[in-house]
Amino acid sequence: MKIIAVENYQEMSKAAAQFIINQVKEKPQSVLGLATGGTVLGTYEKVIEDYQQNKTSYKQVHSVNLDEYIGVEATHPNSYHYYMMEHLFAHIDIERDHIHIPNGLAKNTEEECRNYEGVIEELGGVDLQLLGIGVNGHIGFNEPGTSFDSVTHVVKLTESTRDANKRYFNRLEDVPTHAITMGISTIMKSKNILLLVSGKKKAEILAQVMNGEIDEKVPASILNTHPNVTIIADKDALAFVG
Ligand code: F6R
Repeated sequence: MKIIAVENYQEMSKAAAQFIINQVKEKPQSVLGLATGGTVLGTYEKVIEDYQQNKTSYKQVHSVNLDEYIGVEATHPNSYHYYMMEHLFAHIDIERDHIHIPNGLAKNTEEECRNYEGVIEELGGVDLQLLGIGVNGHIGFNEPGTSFDSVTHVVKLTESTRDANKRYFNRLEDVPTHAITMGISTIMKSKNILLLVSGKKKAEILAQVMNGEIDEKVPASILNTHPNVTIIADKDALAFVG
């Protein structure tokens, strides 16, 4: 894993946006794997800024998002569909039919998972997968204990993840209990992976991922076995990395 150490969240966001922009310039028809959450927000802001200033085009890009809550409408402010439109897609020239996010309202969620896996395959796989990490080491919504062989599947969210995400909802009871997520083996098939880590809260888990054993108890630890992983982390997140 290649580590890029930066000063703070702003620097991380700038570097991550440049990484994405370089990928798209090098291969305009790239398949980008995208994430939601607080960590990647600044990156999307910088991508938009660059789009406005330098007109980097996303016309030929396809996107596949990591995950979506089950039972939350795409128009609901807490859905990942809404997040992506609001924080990225509405502001760049990506074609709407090139955007792929799991359908959390699908009647048959198992079928939706199989279809989603098929979509990724048909696109020729993900060129660059952007990832954040949960304080428990989750990537996507692959919680500790998820098989490294998992493909896109339905997950029951842990209390720790629901608790971390309650900041977006009025009450903990409103946080969905299930989600659809790309599996760990789905993520690992990406040609390149960019993991962003910021803040003291993530320092312990980042140290564990980088220095600990590769174990399903720490989903992100599998990234050590991928040939093309770049981690952009800020000082606070790197506090415990020896
Ligand atoms: C989001 C996702 C999650 C987040 C992780 C970190 O699509 O898949 O794995 O990347 O929960 O979230 P933040 O960035 O809010 O700390």
